[in-house]
Amino acid sequence: MNVALQPLKPIKTSFLKSIRMLRQSYRNPLEHGQALQAEHGNVVMQKTGRMQMVHLFGADAHQLCLLNPGQILSNKKAWDMIIGRVFPNGLMLRDGDDHRYHRRLMQAGFKSHVMQQYRAVMLPQIQSALSDWHEPRTSGPTQTFPKFKQLTLDLAATIFLGMDLGADAARLNRAFETTVAASMPRVPIPIPGNLLWRGIRARAEMVTYFHSQIAEKRAGDGQDMFSLLCRAEDESGDRYTDQEIVDHMIFLMMAAHDTTTSTLTSMTYLLAKHPAWQQKLFEASQKLTPDSAREQLNEMTLLAAVMKEALRLYPPLSTLPKYSLKPFAFEGYEIPAGSMVVTYPIHTHYMSAYWAEPYAFNPERFLAENKNTDQHPYSFVPFSGGAHMCIGLHFAEMQIKLVMNELLQRYQWSVPEGYVMPVQQSPISKPKDGLPIVFEKR
Ligand code: HEM
Repeated sequence: MNVALQPLKPIKTSFLKSIRMLRQSYRNPLEHGQALQAEHGNVVMQKTGRMQMVHLFGADAHQLCLLNPGQILSNKKAWDMIIGRVFPNGLMLRDGDDHRYHRRLMQAGFKSHVMQQYRAVMLPQIQSALSDWHEPRTSGPTQTFPKFKQLTLDLAATIFLGMDLGADAARLNRAFETTVAASMPRVPIPIPGNLLWRGIRARAEMVTYFHSQIAEKRAGDGQDMFSLLCRAEDESGDRYTDQEIVDHMIFLMMAAHDTTTSTLTSMTYLLAKHPAWQQKLFEASQKLTPDSAREQLNEMTLLAAVMKEALRLYPPLSTLPKYSLKPFAFEGYEIPAGSMVVTYPIHTHYMSAYWAEPYAFNPERFLAENKNTDQHPYSFVPFSGGAHMCIGLHFAEMQIKLVMNELLQRYQWSVPEGYVMPVQQSPISKPKDGLPIVFEKR
């Protein structure tokens, strides 16, 4: 370590203020991050009891923490502390060679030809699910968030599990919902009846279910993700064990479900607030050439720009936690080993150093013709980056484009004048009011 580095000292706060800050960081990471950075700069250490947290701000912080040179940071240690009780051994909760091995095998579920098969299965299901979103005026607006949640859950059952769950559907949906709800509990100790306790029991139910299906999936020729992972094999003939398949499937369902729901919801909100963009996307959707499914998705450039702008303004994961295994340097400071190191996509996404009018909705900034070649490559990080960059990002983009394209073809939608979506930014961004929207048939 370079001797010129300054050792990092924790900011001075009382224990109570520290607890309040932790709560604020959970409730509103954007404001919390902005306040911390404005007062203390890009490197801030905070101690609460035995916990040592280092907050790092800006695109350079993302570049360092996500590229993770010399394995200075652990994903496993950080995420184990947060979601390890209910999502142990998921891909995001692994490090180094072990992570590389598991990620390589998982690619079997994300290859380009497999994605085309998913698309073909998803499309009719999306079309049918969106057919009745226009409620009669008397029954009031549609709660958009739960509608998207149900849709992405149903799609997950087909794409990930390849099954019409039949009699198991309601029970498994409930178990899955309970597991997800318990992923970041306020009380991190299981006490009979509390959220984490229920989550652990619900997970056990899912584990039993997945185990019971593995033999059949291995022997069959199904093209759903579960089957593909059961049969995935690397060059040396290595395969996932049964337990690894179960852990990956439960994590994958969680990783895919809430993030996509969150993005669809924020896009729908932004398009309700900006009807000119909604019209523009509708007109673009009318011009799509249906020659090839893949080309059609690539043609949706305006929709892709709106998706990116929604992810900039409302990143589903507003912060990214890592854990320092070794001391490392950042902006002249020595960050000690043994710290929870947190970077803030949401804060970086609103920094005027990288974005002109960062609070404005302006999808044009993401169009190729407006691309700023000087833009910092880590100023836009909704999918993280480096070795842990979201493996499902193309899947997410495909699903979001298919759903939004169908929605645009069928409906015009709006929110009342002056409505502002109340957002809960953590653990995964969502509207506190379900996002009531009036959908009118085109
Ligand atoms: C808009 C939707 C999505 C967003 C914003 C998103 C965001 C993220 C982020 C930020 C990470 C990295 C966390 C870290 O650095 O520790 C991540 C990892 C991951 N995501 Fe996504 N995700 C999305 C959709 C999906 C989908 C659809 C899937 C699966 C089909 C998925 C599967 C995963 C997996 C398996 C990882 C762990 C990757 C690794 O550690 O190697 N995600 N995602």
